[in-house]
Amino acid sequence: MFFSSAISILLCAASVFSGSEAAAVHKRASSGCGKSHNFIGETKQFSFESSGGTRTYRIFLPKGYKVNSPQPLVIAYHGSGKTPKDMEDLTKFSDESVNSKMVAVFPAGVEKHWQGPSYAKEGVSDKVFTTDLVNRIKDNYCIDESRVYAAGQSNGGGFVNTLACSPDHGGQFAAFAASSAALYTDVNGDETCHPARSPLPFLESHGTADKRINYNGNLTAAGGPVPAIPEWLGRWAKRNKCSGSSSSNIGNDVEQQQWTCAGEKGLLTHFKLNGHGHAYPSSSDKQLFLSPKIIDFFNSHTKP
Ligand SMILES: *[C@@H]1O[C@H](CO)[C@@H](O)[C@H](O)[C@H]1NC(C)=O
Repeated sequence: MFFSSAISILLCAASVFSGSEAAAVHKRASSGCGKSHNFIGETKQFSFESSGGTRTYRIFLPKGYKVNSPQPLVIAYHGSGKTPKDMEDLTKFSDESVNSKMVAVFPAGVEKHWQGPSYAKEGVSDKVFTTDLVNRIKDNYCIDESRVYAAGQSNGGGFVNTLACSPDHGGQFAAFAASSAALYTDVNGDETCHPARSPLPFLESHGTADKRINYNGNLTAAGGPVPAIPEWLGRWAKRNKCSGSSSSNIGNDVEQQQWTCAGEKGLLTHFKLNGHGHAYPSSSDKQLFLSPKIIDFFNSHTKP
């Protein structure tokens, strides 16, 4: 206890003298600082026991990873039927041109699904798995505990919202991002959503021509009912006590909607992709490459 607070005081002093943008923010060094690794600049796969049995994940350490410098961490959840490698390829979170600073973790769902839809394996708590995973990463790598993020595609994006709505498992994250989110666990009202704090920064991107997770909601989607995206955003605007929103066209038929919450413009952000289907807007997408937007969004949010 004494030791770790001594470390964060030192880090804070160091960042003040470096004059970096984050100078005012205290980095919270995890217990994994000081441990060395032999795959810097690469991605490696590991497994451990958690809810659902043996769980595996891929982890990428950026080239600039340093054993004693706390790095941000992003956990990226794949879509239903997909793999960690698929998610790594789609997001390019292990490509230095997209992400040069964050440790990126790509976990695997049990039977390639995440908790929430009716087709997910019963009894598996991916919330418990997530907390076990984050603790494991913090114990083994040098992570800034105030900069842990969650991102996901489709079923994985819906699960990111499940985390954001969890009082016990969402509070460890500084910000959330989802694409084509399948919001099976947050269909209406607030009964299933009790965020650990308010406001919680959230970015969501969705195509208006999404046939799997319809932009306007679907009572009979593959894993159960899902809400209309504008209605769900309205509920987060309330949860985040946002005062208003503004919309701008950023080109290629993409509308960016930004809510001002707790005095911060864009704390809740939505990309409405006109005519876009059910797919992660990847680097080859004609309308938007979402990952740089997500990384920028994460970079501007630190857990208080
Ligand atoms: C709702 O989901 C079902 C199952 O995926 C699909 O067959 C149907 O077309 C969807 N409806 C809309 C309006 O998207």
